[in-house]
Amino acid sequence: MTDLSEKKLVVLASGGGSNFQSLIDSLQNDGSNIRIRALVVDRPCQATQRARQHGIDYFEVNRHNNADYNTQVLKSICQDSDLIVCAGYLSILSATLISQFPEKIINIHPSLLPKFGGAGMYGMKVHQAVIAAEEKTSGCTVHYVDKGVDTGKIIAQAKVDIDENETAESLQKKILVKEHLLLPAVVKDLLR
Ligand code: GRF
Repeated sequence: MTDLSEKKLVVLASGGGSNFQSLIDSLQNDGSNIRIRALVVDRPCQATQRARQHGIDYFEVNRHNNADYNTQVLKSICQDSDLIVCAGYLSILSATLISQFPEKIINIHPSLLPKFGGAGMYGMKVHQAVIAAEEKTSGCTVHYVDKGVDTGKIIAQAKVDIDENETAESLQKKILVKEHLLLPAVVKDLLR
């Protein structure tokens, strides 16, 4: 029988899936009524191993497929879910898909948006740009996904200080620690 109090989450990822793991751990540890219904990846990546280890269904959507077809596939996987979390998902979601799930798709980005966001700003490139700009602080942002790239309404941010000898690599590590706390906190907050 369907548990009406249960909230269903779909996570989208393309890489290591450490944010996906932070959601698994956090939701498991507090007896939450939020269940990760499925993981979707757009390429072979380590995140699927994490899904396997935790008995979570996963799907690989080939990012080179016809875009409309992929939109239909994603739509059917995400149907009936309460929240869709982009956690390092590198494909851009289609406007059609976004309009089907208003205020239900969120993304985590490793900078203090609106700074260092937009097309081409992902992964280490973000941190390299922050270091090159000699910023004193950086951090991470969870925001709603809209039709732009990293332009949706900001939900929450966490900051880190940038040390004198900071490198893009050390900054990435520092920010990931914050991401792993911020993302589960926002998910729980939104689905409360
Ligand atoms: C994170 O830095 C996230 O902010 C960005 O992509 C990275 C994904 O890392 N969108 P992981 O795959 O969760 O380890």
